[in-house]
Amino acid sequence: MDLILFGPAGAGKGTQAKFLVERFGLPQVSTGDMMRAERKSGSELGQRFDGYMTKGLLVPDELVIELLARRIAAPDAAQGVIFDGFPRTVAQAAALDAMLAKAGRRVDRVVALDVPVEMIVDRITGRRTCQACGHIYHVRYNPPPATGRCASCGSDQVVQRDDDREDKVRQRNAEYLSSTVPVLAHYEKQGVVSQLDGTGTVEEVTRRISAVFG
Ligand code: AP5
Repeated sequence: MDLILFGPAGAGKGTQAKFLVERFGLPQVSTGDMMRAERKSGSELGQRFDGYMTKGLLVPDELVIELLARRIAAPDAAQGVIFDGFPRTVAQAAALDAMLAKAGRRVDRVVALDVPVEMIVDRITGRRTCQACGHIYHVRYNPPPATGRCASCGSDQVVQRDDDREDKVRQRNAEYLSSTVPVLAHYEKQGVVSQLDGTGTVEEVTRRISAVFG
């Protein structure tokens, strides 16, 4: 089964992906996490992502599609994937459909989380992320331990992402509205979109997503 978690920055895609990973036993594939890993490695590809990501701009389609194609060819993705943050343009969606079709697969469901922009800014500017294991916190709604160490892996690398400042969040939201929202129409034509209210507590949103799958 191939599922897409869709929504603006801060909609809760990464937070809710953990629940879907547990429920379906499929890997989470976050293009944002993959790009941050490339940047951290200091690779040439990672350096090409740098300028776009720090400005809150989308990375060009050809770079993203190449990265994604390699990831979904991996053995652990053979039974399906939870896509988080991909596809973000209609060109990426068309490329994904073609890649899946080659394997006799298709996008089974797009779960689109709707969250108003001021809530997005509040969630993102308060987010703290463990750079070692990816665990996500929020300074008020789910604070990291007072020790400063990650509750999940014990590392001392719980930090604020460099694109989680208010001006960058607003830029990312503008990119979402202009380039990513049209992806929904692409999948609505395929009849696979479930639009959900992404406000409320993490558990409330999880319950809404759970109801989609029965
Ligand atoms: P990416 O890493 O994908 O970031 P994003 O989509 O902007 O989404 P976020 O990770 O910021 O938010 P989220 O929805 O996962 O929210 P989360 O669960 O963490 O992309 C970063 C950059 O990489 C892009 O700007 C672009 O440059 C590039 N990129 C990546 N993919 C690309 C692509 N396909 N094409 C081109 N460029 C690409 O939650 C946010 C916070 O809210 C957390 O603190 C969490 O604890 C809290 N929270 C979550 N749910 C709730 C709730 N219900 N109540 C209260 N708090 C909550």
